[in-house]
Amino acid sequence: MTHIDTVADLRAWRRTAGRVVFVPTMGALHEGHAALVREARRLAGADGRVAVSIFVNPLQFGPGEDLDRYPRTLDADLALCAEAGADRVFAPPVEEVYFSDRSIQITESRLSRVLCGASRPGHFDGVCTVVAKLFNLVQPDDAVFGKKDYQQLAILRRLVRDLDIPVQLHGLDTVREPDGLALSSRNRYLSPEERAQAPALQASLQLASEACRRGFREAGTLLSLVREHLAARAPLGRIDYAALVDRHTLEAQAQANADSLLALAVFFGGARLIDNLELD
Ligand code: PAF
Repeated sequence: MTHIDTVADLRAWRRTAGRVVFVPTMGALHEGHAALVREARRLAGADGRVAVSIFVNPLQFGPGEDLDRYPRTLDADLALCAEAGADRVFAPPVEEVYFSDRSIQITESRLSRVLCGASRPGHFDGVCTVVAKLFNLVQPDDAVFGKKDYQQLAILRRLVRDLDIPVQLHGLDTVREPDGLALSSRNRYLSPEERAQAPALQASLQLASEACRRGFREAGTLLSLVREHLAARAPLGRIDYAALVDRHTLEAQAQANADSLLALAVFFGGARLIDNLELD
C-alpha cells in the first residue's frame, strides 16, 4: 500500500484505478475505521480499489474546538489501513487541499441546525465542503461512512442528492467496545470513572428501544427513560441533547415510527460523546 500526499499523484493514480471505493477520515484511526475500510474492500471486490483519506479538516473545527489537540498518528494509521485492505492513502497537508485565498464554501441550511449542529455552527458546512472536494479529487464510485456520526451521514446524503454528485454512499453500523461504548477517538479523553459510566449512553437508548417495541411510542416517554437512566448510571455526564428524530430529515418527532432515530450527546468533562439508535 502506498501513501500519497499530493493532488498530482492522486490524480495520476486515479486515472489507472478503475472502480474506487473511498473512506474519508481525519486519522487517529481505530477499529471503527478499520471496519469501514474492510467494508470498502468488500464493496470494491477483487478488481476495485480502496482509497482512504487522512486529513484533519480545519474548516469543520470551530473556535475553541480541538483542532490543535486533535490526535495525529500517521504511522499507526497507515499500518491500520494496510491491514484492513486499503490500496492507497491520501494524506495531504492543508496547503494541498485549500487555497489561501479560497472564497467558495458549501452551506447546508436545514439538517445542520439541530442535534450536534446546534452547538457547532459551521461544522457541517466545513464537512460538506471538504467531502465535496475529496469526492472531486478521488472521484470514487462509492464511499463508506459510519452511522455513529448519523447526522453527518444524513447531511452527506443530502449533499450528493442536492448537488448531483455521482457517488453511492454506504452507512456502516457503529463498532462498540464489549460493554457497548461506541468507539471514538475522543474516548481517550475520559477519566477511568467517566469511562466506567460512558456505556450508559447506549444502554439508555436500548432501554427506550425496548419500551418502543412494547408499544410506548411517545417521544416524551422514550426520552424520559433515556434521561432517567443516564441520571442514575452516568452522574458524571451532562446531557447536551437527547432527541427522537426522523432519520432522514432529522426533524423532531412526537411519536416514534419505522423511520425514527434516537440521538444522544453527553458531555463528560470536556469530551462530548455521541451515540444513536435506529428504532424499528
Ligand atoms: O467523519 C470524519 O472523520 C470527518 O467528518 C470527515 C467525513 C472525514 C470529513 O472531514
